[in-house]
Amino acid sequence: MTSARLSGRTAVVTGGAVGIGQVLAQKLASEGARVAILDISDAEETVDLIVEAGGRASAHRVDLTDPAAVSSVVDAVADSVGSPDILVNNAGIYPPIPWDEITLEVWRQVFAVNVESMLHTMQAFTPAMRERRWGRVINISSSSVGLVIPDLVPYIASKMAVIGLTRGAATELAAEGITVNSIGPSLVKTPTGTSPAHLYDIVPQLQAIKRAEEPEDLAGAVAFLASDDAAFLTAQNLWVDGGLLRS
Ligand SMILES: NC(=O)c1ccc[n+]([C@@H]2O[C@H](COP(=O)([O-])OP(=O)(O)OC[C@H]3O[C@@H](n4cnc5c(N)ncnc54)[C@H](O)[C@@H]3O)[C@@H](O)[C@H]2O)c1
Repeated sequence: MTSARLSGRTAVVTGGAVGIGQVLAQKLASEGARVAILDISDAEETVDLIVEAGGRASAHRVDLTDPAAVSSVVDAVADSVGSPDILVNNAGIYPPIPWDEITLEVWRQVFAVNVESMLHTMQAFTPAMRERRWGRVINISSSSVGLVIPDLVPYIASKMAVIGLTRGAATELAAEGITVNSIGPSLVKTPTGTSPAHLYDIVPQLQAIKRAEEPEDLAGAVAFLASDDAAFLTAQNLWVDGGLLRS
């Protein structure tokens, strides 16, 4: 029997057109949530997958680095699936770039997508959660912050910032019934992902569980954090990485 612990809830998933976000959106829908997908790319495929499985979803094309664009999509989300109770900040980029080639432009772009977008969505979607005194924010960080991976400095710095943003926002929003947590995956292969190819051989061997992580491996943790079961869990970063960062 399918559990419906998110029945009656509405979730926003950013970056849900492909990859990890697509699977997270499907999981939340399978647990009963109506889902809005915010992505700079066309996310109709994710909507179709959810609708075919009997769920309800809508896609909204938005560049999450643009705060005005994020604000302007709030009403469309509410009209299509309802005012969100759950916000999953998943959109992110991880361009490999050698240390000597880092430019301020690349640095700012990585932070704009990976960190600032989370601030914009929190500012846009948590006011209604505060009024209802119930909300869940789940940000995707990365276990890369605990590894020595070359050519990923802007990315690693941005994901450290995600953990800091999560802790700070959790403190600010706790009194109004909103929890804010992050989840740090290991390496996950996605159709459009840009991780250096050799890492797919190396990283699983460093994990306690020596197989490649799949987006599905993250979905249960996200659904749990989004549920009533996680009411007293906030300001945490949960490593869902097969034991990669165990030492
Ligand atoms: N894949 C991995 O190995 C891995 C590991 C750890 C953490 N993560 C994190 O998980 C998240 C998802 O990663 P993924 O591998 O599924 O990525 P992906 O590249 O497969 O998909 C990212 C999605 O984000 C969207 N997006 C990018 N920039 C955007 C913008 N400005 N506005 C709106 N949407 C935008 C893309 O269109 C795409 O749909 C990211 O935050 C990433 O850093 C990934």
